[in-house]
Amino acid sequence: MPAPQDVLPVADGVGLPWDVAVGDAVGAIADARGAHGDDFVVISGGDRYVFTFSPTGVESFYALPEEVASKGLADYRMLCRKLPDEIFTGRRTLPGSLFRRDDVTSYLAHLGHALDVTGDELGERGDVDVFAVTRRLGHRMGLASWAAPGCADGEPFERLVRAFDALDGSDAFVHPDAMAAVAASGKRVERAALAEVADVVEGALARHDPAPGSLFARIVAGWADQDPEARARGVAMDVALIHIASMSNLMAALGWAIVDLVEHPDALRTVANGDEDFARRCALESTRMAQRSIMSRAVLAPVEFRTGAGVVDVPAGWTIATLLPLLNTSAEPSLTEWDPDRWRGHRLADVGGLASPMLVTAFGHGRHTCPAQPFSLAAMTTAMTRLLGRYDVSARWSAHPRPVAAQIGGVARSAGPATMRYALR
Ligand code: HEM
Repeated sequence: MPAPQDVLPVADGVGLPWDVAVGDAVGAIADARGAHGDDFVVISGGDRYVFTFSPTGVESFYALPEEVASKGLADYRMLCRKLPDEIFTGRRTLPGSLFRRDDVTSYLAHLGHALDVTGDELGERGDVDVFAVTRRLGHRMGLASWAAPGCADGEPFERLVRAFDALDGSDAFVHPDAMAAVAASGKRVERAALAEVADVVEGALARHDPAPGSLFARIVAGWADQDPEARARGVAMDVALIHIASMSNLMAALGWAIVDLVEHPDALRTVANGDEDFARRCALESTRMAQRSIMSRAVLAPVEFRTGAGVVDVPAGWTIATLLPLLNTSAEPSLTEWDPDRWRGHRLADVGGLASPMLVTAFGHGRHTCPAQPFSLAAMTTAMTRLLGRYDVSARWSAHPRPVAAQIGGVARSAGPATMRYALR
C-alpha cells in the first residue's frame, strides 16, 4: 500500500499554529485545500498529517478504531501544550464517566440554581457581554455538579473562577499561537492556578462531607484507599480535569445560540415563549455554525485509510485530521444560513444535497460522538428559555461577533465582547 505522500499532494509551506505563527489557522488549511483538493499531506514542526475533506475520507475518518488511530492521544497532545502534566497523571474519575444514569438530572438541577443566581446578579436591567454571562453560568453549574459542597458560591467560587480562567485548557486550541510562551514560562501561571484550585477544593473537602449520590461523592470514593493527603490531592486533580474538559465548549455554544436568537427576533420570541423543541433546534443550529473543531486521530499502528484520492497506508506517528469549520457551513449551499428547522431530533432533516451525511455535524459522528450531547442540548435549552423568557434583550453589537482568528478546535470563542442590553419583562 502506498504511503500518504506518494498518493496525496503535500501542501508545502503550510504550518499549524502551535508550530509556526499563523494569523488565521483555519484559513491556512482552507487555502491548502483550495490549492491541493480535498485530501492532502501537511508537514509541520516535524509532524506529519493527512487532512481529509472528501466524503470518502471523512467517512473513513469517523470509522477509524481508537486502538489504531486515537482521539484520546490526539486530544492529550493538544491539551498538554497548556495544562501541567500533573493534572493528567493518575486520574481516577475521567470526564467520559460523567453521564451515568441520574447524573444529568442532578446537573440540570444545579443549572436551575445557577440560573437563579445569574438572575440575581443581572438584576432588572443593564448591558452585559453574552459570553461572560454564559461562562460564569457554566462555572457555577459545573462546580455545583462535581466539586465539593460550597465551591459554587461566595469566595471559594470566585477563587475557582479566577483560577480556572487562568488554567483554561481550551487556550491550547483557542490561542494556539500563545502556547510557545506557555512552554517557555514552564507553565508558571498554570501551575499557580492549579495550586489554587487544589487549595480551594481540598479546603472544602476538609469542611464538608460529599452529598450522598453526587458525582463528587463518587470522585471521593475513588480515592478511599489513600491517606488523607494523597486523597485530597487526587480528588482535587480529578475535579480540575473534569471541570476543564467539560464546560467551556458548552458555554461558548450557549453564547452563540443567544447571539443568533438576538439577531433573529421571530425565533427569539418563540424561544422566549418556552418552545423547548424549537430552542433545542436553535441550539444545534448555532453549535453547527460556531464549530471550529479540528477533529484528529493520532495513528498508533499503520492503518489503511481511504481518501477521495485513493487508499493510503498511514504510518504510526502520523495524525489524520479534518476541520468542521471547512465542512459545516459549505458542504452544501444552504448551510451558510442559520435555519433551526433543518434539524429533526439530533439529525439533519434532509441530507439529500450532501455528498455524505457525515460532512456536517454539531456533536460528531461514529464511536466518538459526544457523550454529553443530550445533556448539553438540555442545558442550552433550559438556559435559553429561562434567560430569554425573563428579559427583553437587544444587540449592542453592530456586526455579528467574530470568532478568534487563530482558533483551531472546539466551539468558536468570540474575539471581542458581544454586549447585549436587557431589561426584565
Ligand atoms: C455544546 C457543547 C459541546 C459540543 C459542541 C461538543 C462536541 C463534541 C464533538 C464534536 C465530539 C467528537 C470529537 C471527535 O470525534 O473527535 C465530542 C466528544 C466528546 N465530548 Fe463533547 N461537546 C460538547 C460538550 C461536552 C461536555 C459538556 C462534555 C462533558 C464532559 C463533553 C465530553 C466529551 C467527551 C468525553 C468526548 C469524547 C468521546 C469519545 O472519545 O468517545 N462534551 N464532543
